[in-house]
Amino acid sequence: MAQFASKLGLIAATVGSAVGLGNVWRFPAEAQANGGGAFLIVYLFCVLLLGIPVMLGEFAIGRNGATDAVGAYKKIAPAKSWWIVGLIGIIASYMILCFYTVVTGWTLEYMVNSVFGDLYSNIGQGSDAADAAFAGSMNEYIKSDWAPLIYTAISIAITAGVLLMGVEKGIERVSNIMMPALFILLIIFCFASLSLPGAGQGVEFFLWPDFSKITPMVVINALGQAFFSLSLGMGVLYTYAGYFPKQTKLAQTATTVSLLDLMVSVMMGLIIFPAVASFGMMGSDLEGSTLVFITLPEIFEQMPGTKLWSLLFFMLLLFAALTSVISIAEVSVRLFQDRLKMSRLKAVLTVMLPLLGLSAVCSLSQGSLSDVKVFGMDFFTLFDTVASNILLPVGSLLMCIFLGWFAPRNLLPDQLTNNGSLRCRVVKPVMFLIKWVAPIAILIILISPLLK
Ligand code: PHE
Repeated sequence: MAQFASKLGLIAATVGSAVGLGNVWRFPAEAQANGGGAFLIVYLFCVLLLGIPVMLGEFAIGRNGATDAVGAYKKIAPAKSWWIVGLIGIIASYMILCFYTVVTGWTLEYMVNSVFGDLYSNIGQGSDAADAAFAGSMNEYIKSDWAPLIYTAISIAITAGVLLMGVEKGIERVSNIMMPALFILLIIFCFASLSLPGAGQGVEFFLWPDFSKITPMVVINALGQAFFSLSLGMGVLYTYAGYFPKQTKLAQTATTVSLLDLMVSVMMGLIIFPAVASFGMMGSDLEGSTLVFITLPEIFEQMPGTKLWSLLFFMLLLFAALTSVISIAEVSVRLFQDRLKMSRLKAVLTVMLPLLGLSAVCSLSQGSLSDVKVFGMDFFTLFDTVASNILLPVGSLLMCIFLGWFAPRNLLPDQLTNNGSLRCRVVKPVMFLIKWVAPIAILIILISPLLK
């Protein structure tokens, strides 16, 4: 069975999975929409109280299984149907893969065009009309047909290439390079953004909690964001934990990974809000693709060194996205290798080739197929909504119920203490959170949209 070779590599790969579009693309938008500092406080509690325990639960099931997400459940409960929980994770992750590769493709397109293309040829001269023309040309980029398709295909090919090189020589090696590079870029951007004139207003919005803004919806959104950002409920952590060596300390690993992921989100907030405030765009829409693919280029356009900043930012985003895409795809590759006994090559092709078609549909749904709607949503939004808002919480809920109530009682303690060779003082509190607090909290997230 494949394994990560070093402790650092194992952390880099798992953090690589966690840190992704969720931190750069989704977190600032959620923070803005949910009251800035108030959201941050609630988010912090969600990560510490629920994110880390649920991650530990997935690690325990995954390392015990040392196989794919379905097999990990079959190993613990061979005669029962709990393997369906693993399957839900795999289906969710595949749906996420379909649109995640598209956004990775846009990122690659922007990175290349920052320097070589005409991304900034339309630079506005500060007038409103020029700004509007610039935003329009950015929109064209995402909504055109061919270029995004080609770049999406390239991002799929890169992912397949890394997967083919294997767990240690592919995933671990690439993470060992991309993750440190990502942290260096983050630090550079933090300094640059915080030194902009008027940055303080953005910092204040992001860090100063106005407790009156904490509503049930803010709590629900923060919990949803924490689960997405920590890659929970999608089979990724079972699969990666299957590559952890026996001596890996799970509690320490889950805490390190979660805190690093949290740190990246906070740093992203410290990059985005000061920049947005400094350029007088606090009121503008920071939602998903608008923030990264329109607002930020508008800011770069007004800074000296436009092309360099733009190149570096999209490089940062590309590293974040690629290491996540790789982890999401690995879930299915492992399934085909272990369940259907395919060779790695065949498994990678079986997972990645259909993606060329499926992600093309997601990509075109932002352009010429935008009128085709299922349940009122284009394909991109549909895949995102079903996977992130339904399958992901359902998968996590069932995992908690399984581990808390049905799995052998010694499974979690044995995994947390490495079969008794370590002292681990958090076994009982973790079990309590998995058994009671997490399922109730997730259930509330699940039913909350119905109450709106
Ligand atoms: N956690 C990743 C992010 O924040 C997304 C992800 C989802 C990764 C599912 C793996 C599995 O972008």
